[in-house]
Amino acid sequence: MLVQAKSILTTDQVREIRALLENAPWADGKVTAGLQSAMAKNNRQIPEDSPVAAKLQQIILPALAQDPVFNAAALPLRVYPPLFNRYDVGMGFGNHVDNAVRFIKAANMRIRTDVSATLFLSDPDEYDGGDLVIQDTYGEQRVKLAAGDMVIYPATSLHRVEPITRGSRWASFFWTQSMVKDDGQRTLLYDFDRNILEARQTLGEDHEIVLSLTATYHNLLRQWAEL
Ligand code: NI
Repeated sequence: MLVQAKSILTTDQVREIRALLENAPWADGKVTAGLQSAMAKNNRQIPEDSPVAAKLQQIILPALAQDPVFNAAALPLRVYPPLFNRYDVGMGFGNHVDNAVRFIKAANMRIRTDVSATLFLSDPDEYDGGDLVIQDTYGEQRVKLAAGDMVIYPATSLHRVEPITRGSRWASFFWTQSMVKDDGQRTLLYDFDRNILEARQTLGEDHEIVLSLTATYHNLLRQWAEL
């Protein structure tokens, strides 16, 4: 399931993050790539252990924690500290699948990457090319969102970033280990959650049907969640 989460960051937060990135130590993006993806990868990244990365993560992680769409769709157990990349003219990232397991140095912990996320920090009119192209069950999906918006998709998907032909594309990206590993089950729970929201709006939150649907949602999540 591919889900767009709008306005994860406010305009002010995007501006603040970009100001910090202006002076950040951009390095070759191959450092976080696996062997196969290193060959396809041509971009710049902020080193994971740089102080500016920590500062940026402190803006993004709380914003994620309170976003209802991210929480309902990803059902996060662990979130990898967000990374930052940029693609300038001529740069791109060919088809690849992200590594299945990653090590979070600061927490001395492994994370299984169930859900991939890209949080856009440049607006679409600032660059040409640079579409994130994700293969899903229904074919290729092209994604290019406003600064502050985010797309999440199953980390099992083949994806690429098309070469930039004008301007520069900045983004944050990270992975989530979900309480529910299977994308099909996550999709059902997400649809269920959206339907409950709609029922709540139509019928009122104290309506018997809303209460019983909510109970069923939680009992289903209890069946499937692994912590
Ligand atoms: Ni990737």
